[in-house]
Amino acid sequence: MTVQLDYSNVMQANIGLQHGLNESEIENLFSRGQSILADLRQNAEDETIGFYKLPNEQKTADEIISYAEAVRKRFKFYVHIGIGGSALGPIALQNALRDSYYNLNDYPKMFFPDNVDPDWLEDLTDKIDPSKTLFHIVSKSGATTETAATTLYFMDHLTKALGDDFYKNLLFTTDPVKGLLNRIAGEYPIKCFRIPPGVGGRFSVLSPVGLVSAAIAGIDIKKMLKGAAEMAVKCNNDDLSQNPAFIFAAIHYLYMKRGKNISVMMPYSNKLRDMADWYRQLWAESLGKRFDKDGNRVEVGQTPVKALGTTDQHSQVQLYVEGPNDKVITFLEVEKFMHNELLKNHFTYIPEFNYLEGQSLGTLLNAEKQATELALSNNERPNLTIKFSKVSEENIGAYFFLLEAATAFAGGLLKINAFDQPGVEQGKIATYALMGREGYEQKRKEIETALKKKKYFML
Ligand code: PA5
Repeated sequence: MTVQLDYSNVMQANIGLQHGLNESEIENLFSRGQSILADLRQNAEDETIGFYKLPNEQKTADEIISYAEAVRKRFKFYVHIGIGGSALGPIALQNALRDSYYNLNDYPKMFFPDNVDPDWLEDLTDKIDPSKTLFHIVSKSGATTETAATTLYFMDHLTKALGDDFYKNLLFTTDPVKGLLNRIAGEYPIKCFRIPPGVGGRFSVLSPVGLVSAAIAGIDIKKMLKGAAEMAVKCNNDDLSQNPAFIFAAIHYLYMKRGKNISVMMPYSNKLRDMADWYRQLWAESLGKRFDKDGNRVEVGQTPVKALGTTDQHSQVQLYVEGPNDKVITFLEVEKFMHNELLKNHFTYIPEFNYLEGQSLGTLLNAEKQATELALSNNERPNLTIKFSKVSEENIGAYFFLLEAATAFAGGLLKINAFDQPGVEQGKIATYALMGREGYEQKRKEIETALKKKKYFML
């Protein structure tokens, strides 16, 4: 595993006194970092924070691998039904580690419908045969409206195809005991994988939430866990100057204090593009909080933004270089691409193309990343790079663990609970009320009263 954090371009030495950090600012956070680390270790031990132990869950990985082999033989299609933390990690994994056009030639064809847009779902329904489809329903709570609705939507097609045998094409990944999926599994012999109780949705990619679909697509999940375990060792380092999770968190914390409340993640790799989507949820939902742990109103958090190099050089970088200096930009860089054919100038009568002759696209991509990095640094814009030696299972596992641990450290520095999501729950409850769920009548009345009072300004 070789995933490194290069934070040279946040330091004063490289981007100047006003917007750069000096080493002592980071060192001053070491003693707080030590007590956060001690708490994390304690919480990992008593499993109130479960993601720390996931890289070592070899038994679950073995079970998933043999289950996935059977699925690959039996099914032509796989539909993953889940949302938020139950979907973004699995999607990112697929796009990073399997062939980019896997579904054109490989089986089972894999789909991740993580929205309840009826037209979008109908387009998918047309393409799959439910009797040959494994429907994997992933929900920690088992109660999320979108997941429930999508399940019911496909159930209609599944029961039409299989009648009473519908359950044979279902797989659940959910809490060990709680939630509505367990009630269904109590009625039918449906295979269930479990999300350990202390593992929250956005920290669950290295649990069966992400591992099952990865294994079905032929991704080596054991290598991924190995990379995560190696990174876990680094993120457990008492010497915080060498602990990449702490350093990432400390840098972002210091910049939040200075009002840089936007965190851009910009992979220079299409394979890693959805890693930024996964990070967006992790960073936003974990750190965007109104109250700190002492009940003080703090309203903290950084807005994560996703960009893609080089594509967004022609869309966003003008703003990043010359607009408000309110962002911290994290690049994802791949040192060695799998394919690196050399270009040839087929139009020799155009000497302006000669500079590309003998160069590879990977060299160009990384040169462009370096050019953006230079432009930002020359304009005193803080930027850092997570460097992947290559896009591999080990490195992807390491990346996930690094940012999960960094999020935990950042939560500690901000003194907030990084593991809850009361704002999301508010939306979930309002949805239940609006959709007429039993038990939410009072909430519905409150919403109706508020809507009556609302003044509309519409054109
Ligand atoms: O990170 C989280 O906890 C959320 O994003 C959840 O993953 C999301 O709301 C889906 O929840 P569940 O897995 O319970 O259906």
